[in-house]
Amino acid sequence: MVDKFDKVVDLAKRRGFFFPSCEIYGGVAGFLDFGPMGTLLKRNIENKWREFFIYKHHGLVYEIETPVVMPSRVFEASGHVDHFSDFIVECSLCHRRFRADHLIADQVKDIEALEGKSAEELNVIIHENNIRCPECKGELSKVSKFNLLFRTTIGPYTENIAYMRPEAAQGMFINFKNIYSIMRERLPIGLAQIGRVLRNEISPRQGPIRLREFTIMEIEFFFDPLKPMCNLINEVNNNKVRLLTEKMIITKEENPIEITIGEALSNKLIRSEWLAYFMAISQKFVSELGVPENKQMFLEKLPNERAHYSAQTFDQVVMLERWGWVEVSGHAYRTDYDLSRHQAYSGYDLTAFRRFETPKKEEVPIAIPNVNAIAKSAGNNIGKIISKIKNMNARELKLALENGPIIIDGIEVKPEFVEFKYESRTLSGEHFIPHVAEPSFGAERLVYVTMEYAYREKNGRVILSLPRNLAPIKVAVFPLVNRDGLREKALEVYELIRAHGIIADFDDDGSIGRRYARADEIGTPLAITIDYRTMDDNTVTIRDRDTWEQIRIPMNELIEYLKSFFK
Ligand code: GLY
Repeated sequence: MVDKFDKVVDLAKRRGFFFPSCEIYGGVAGFLDFGPMGTLLKRNIENKWREFFIYKHHGLVYEIETPVVMPSRVFEASGHVDHFSDFIVECSLCHRRFRADHLIADQVKDIEALEGKSAEELNVIIHENNIRCPECKGELSKVSKFNLLFRTTIGPYTENIAYMRPEAAQGMFINFKNIYSIMRERLPIGLAQIGRVLRNEISPRQGPIRLREFTIMEIEFFFDPLKPMCNLINEVNNNKVRLLTEKMIITKEENPIEITIGEALSNKLIRSEWLAYFMAISQKFVSELGVPENKQMFLEKLPNERAHYSAQTFDQVVMLERWGWVEVSGHAYRTDYDLSRHQAYSGYDLTAFRRFETPKKEEVPIAIPNVNAIAKSAGNNIGKIISKIKNMNARELKLALENGPIIIDGIEVKPEFVEFKYESRTLSGEHFIPHVAEPSFGAERLVYVTMEYAYREKNGRVILSLPRNLAPIKVAVFPLVNRDGLREKALEVYELIRAHGIIADFDDDGSIGRRYARADEIGTPLAITIDYRTMDDNTVTIRDRDTWEQIRIPMNELIEYLKSFFK
């Protein structure tokens, strides 16, 4: 049966929204090309996201741009080299490889959720259900981990291993201190990025829903864990959200509770005010893409399903006809995980500064490298050890050395390498590592979701009822016929509309009915027709995409009409 997914994908291809990449070379799963209409729609969605998450918060959230390729050290620190993986099985006969959970779900009816299952649990399920290779029925290997990072090298040096970022987040973490300083050391502060990310998915098979390369739109919002209050929470306290919490999922509850953000916070269902604030904003944002609130909810991830960096995660999911509940955004409370890791791996101080209300007096340890002791046993590493000792927090270093030698970045630091002196200091404040709340969206998936929710059929014809301000083309201009000066007049109207910055199409090809149909299919909200009456009384007809109703207005009111229609 042809369902909405098929219809939207067909429309997307026919009308130049999106289509599989590299088709002339046979195509490659998990990559998508965007055509003229899709690119405009995607930009409009990205800009709406900017309005909701960045421009509305000017002075609090700043957009930045960082590279896609980063040295391996960044992703060793972030934990992606060790943890960003899915489970894979290989056929012992034909050696084809499959994503283990997909293979199980394909072959075992009514199987419980597999996300977060360990390799051992998956092996048991495969064995108990006698799951074989779907291609040749061969026996399957044991489940193993497959890392989803795309790997490359920088320059002509094979040892310069680098990875394509799987999230934009790391570019924001490693820039935190720099931008925090530039922005006069104020917290909270959010960094935002819209950019390409890559994930080497094992077997993506949901078209635009799961891609190997896609555009992420995400914010890393840094706040002081001792002052975690969100000063904007009153704006959303009474907003209702639909939540399926960890507890409800464990007790197999399928229906979400509807609860205000205020209640969700006071009942400690959401652990961070900023996380809750962005969840409320995200619900509004997705509603404005055309998804009603009752087709959205927030699904809490169980501890074994959460990414390695997260203390609490909610997936914002929307209902799609073929795929059921599908994630459109993730809301992760990343605590101080990422900054702490980057501080430890880079040796740079990534802390923020918290002022005390009244200065405190304190005995502060100072670490002094014992150059003679270091020289005696450290060989070529003398310089490195001295700089490590100087750069580390002296109090933490002292604590660590109380239990004997420690290893920093592969170099041994012995207790006798350091002497501690105490100084009496007046402290105006203290350093700390900020906590982070992260809302994160995939733009291509949102394009698909927006199109599925806009897709209608009327009298056997397709209409893409996109929200007005998201439509790729705002206005179509048609001459009724291409003679008697109508075409020239229509071109004049078209140029006038464009001169006011409104994206318009001129179409004089085929019957007027076919031109209306084309405009409806790409979601153009208004079509203006120049007919014989225009030549007499300077009026035009405006046809509405959704109602197909027409009104006639004088030309000199046209621009005002369009501006207020699209406001
Ligand atoms: N930064 C969110 C994610 O990786 O999904």
